[in-house]
Amino acid sequence: MMVVDTVAGLMKATEEARSDGRRVGLVPTMGALHPGHLSLLRRSVQDDDTVVATVFVNPLQFAAGEDLASYPRDLRRDLVLADEAGVDYLFVPTCEEMYSQPPLITIGVAALSQRLEGCYRPGHFEGVAMVIAKLFAMVGRCRAYFGEKDYQQLCLVRRLAADLSFPVEVVGCPTVRHPDGLALSSRNVRLSPTERVAAPVIHRALVAGRHAVEAGRCDPAVVSQVMADVMSGEPLADLEYAEAADPGDLRTPDRLAGEVRLLAAARIGAVRLIDNLAAVFGQPRADCEGRSHSQRRPHPEGQLCDGG
Ligand code: PAF
Repeated sequence: MMVVDTVAGLMKATEEARSDGRRVGLVPTMGALHPGHLSLLRRSVQDDDTVVATVFVNPLQFAAGEDLASYPRDLRRDLVLADEAGVDYLFVPTCEEMYSQPPLITIGVAALSQRLEGCYRPGHFEGVAMVIAKLFAMVGRCRAYFGEKDYQQLCLVRRLAADLSFPVEVVGCPTVRHPDGLALSSRNVRLSPTERVAAPVIHRALVAGRHAVEAGRCDPAVVSQVMADVMSGEPLADLEYAEAADPGDLRTPDRLAGEVRLLAAARIGAVRLIDNLAAVFGQPRADCEGRSHSQRRPHPEGQLCDGG
């Protein structure tokens, strides 16, 4: 694996790969790699000829007062994990390399940034859009892999690629979970042992919401209340939102129908966690998310993987 720390180096490496007829895969991360990231890397190693991963904690996507300073960082471990996963180029730019001057041009995200996460993290999606647009411009034609765990981000990145005509195929990959349902997240390392025990309540709330949707509860407010009730049973959890939304534009419809995305965010102590699940109105799922833990598809690291 080659570590690249300049934009010019990244552009040269990906251009050369393509001119040799190689298909390029891109896995953007903020580091502190965990098996969720590794599943994205593995997917790219399997489907592409040259795999580029990035480790950059993007300051633009953290609002004032958020956890930029305490965001977990472990570059030495990331280098080992990325190498073992089969990454060809690991792009690790400094902040000055990514943003050599304060951007004059910004990317507005409009409606998508005004709901769910956007209400709690002002400027977050504009910051994500900026860094991903820059990475897409640097890497050029590629497939880019993003986890469904950050579902609103995945929706945004798909629209970014389409609306700005980047030659990038965006691939959404299933959320990887611990056996107790907690979605893997770099922020999980900051949970105390008691908070770690409490944290799976977010997944339990989403599962309860999914059962309500599958059972034909068509009022989104009722489904939200079902999820909030589960969350309120855990004293360490401070719910921010639990909503049933359209999986495409994330609007809350007047009445639920067809495919629904359930999304939730909560603070467990000082750690803010998000998660989401798919549901189909009036139709109990027959695949892994609806089964007991022992029946769900195991992940190579022993975790469980959502059915998508
Ligand atoms: O999901 C993340 O880790 C980040 O938001 C991303 C996509 C790497 C952009 O900084």
